[in-house]
Amino acid sequence: MKSKKIIASLGAVALLFSIFSFTTSHKVDLGKEVSASEWKNLKVLPQNISEDSLKGLMRGYNDALGVKCNFCHANNPETKKMDFASDAKKEKEFARHMIVMTRDINAKNFNWENAKNPEQINVVTCVMCHRGSESPTKSLVKPVDVELKSVKDVAKDKLVPATGSAKAEKK
Ligand code: HEC
Ligand code: HEC
Repeated sequence: MKSKKIIASLGAVALLFSIFSFTTSHKVDLGKEVSASEWKNLKVLPQNISEDSLKGLMRGYNDALGVKCNFCHANNPETKKMDFASDAKKEKEFARHMIVMTRDINAKNFNWENAKNPEQINVVTCVMCHRGSESPTKSLVKPVDVELKSVKDVAKDKLVPATGSAKAEKK
């Protein structure tokens, strides 16, 4: 009898939860996992990236380049709202190129432990080059204090690079 009650109340909680997550899933709100179909136009980031992670990355781009979202994202002239899925701005496409480049630098040069997901290695980041400026080459004249991860932190004392890159280095 008691366990039936517990099961019933668990069921009610689960139902509440599912209603709650259903009603909030279309809000622009942080902290919710999104289904693969929620993002309309991801070409280089993972399709199932959570809203939290995506917004975190995007804010990181703002900070790294010293810009606002509209540096890469276009405004829809009809709705007068940001259209984040639109590819109207060339800066967005350039940023895709930069995302892939940064990922490659990490995977090829900092994959000390032969990680299963080298695309998640985060040693070299946008801010390391950009330092708060959209143009790293120009910003060289006004360096900003940035805390960089030391190679030791990354390699956790395993300073021997993965065989692949060691071979590549000898060439
Ligand atoms: C430096 C350029 C840049 C900045 C600045 C930037 N974004 Fe993005 N954003 C991108 C790129 C590139 C993509 C597409 C990634 C891909 O193709 O996988 C994207 C994708 C998105 C998407 C997914 C759209 C969809 O459905 O396909 C959202 C939402 C988004 N950005 C929001 C923001 C917000 C909010 C900000 C400001 C806090 C911001 N972005 C700042 C480059 C930028
Ligand atoms: C290895 C250094 C390096 C890294 C890492 C890097 N960038 Fe860049 N980025 C550059 C250089 C160099 C340029 C173009 C030359 C300039 O204007 O200084 C550039 C240009 C850009 C531009 C075009 C700016 C414009 O004026 O149109 C965007 C957008 C951009 N980067 C975004 C990013 C993002 C987002 C990341 C992280 C995912 C990133 N970059 C990581 C070096 C870097």
